[in-house]
Amino acid sequence: MADGERLICASEALAECGRGVRFELTRFGKAQPAFVVRYAGEPRAFLNQCGHVPVELDWQEGEFFDVSKLYLICATHGALYHPGSGACVGGRCAGRGLIPVAVVERDGHIYLVETS
Ligand code: FES
Repeated sequence: MADGERLICASEALAECGRGVRFELTRFGKAQPAFVVRYAGEPRAFLNQCGHVPVELDWQEGEFFDVSKLYLICATHGALYHPGSGACVGGRCAGRGLIPVAVVERDGHIYLVETS
């Protein structure tokens, strides 16, 4: 683990378009919920905050993909997000995408890249 990185989980915890792993990070001096999923072979992480109303996306912990496994979905009103970019692709997010979080995968683990 390099300086400025914090372990989130083992790589094997993330299957392609499968369950995500929740974690917390600190932004602007405040703890924020976040999550990471695997999409197109890469870990993709975002703040766990819908673009419609600032609530967490998953009612059932770790369930971020919709049934098609094509999009991330907010369980509250069904806003859809692209799992690669976090962009709003449908529903009540109305153009407000998810906020990306920097992560890196190395040596079988996924790390949060801490930013100040
Ligand atoms: S709170 Fe997420 S779609 Fe409304």
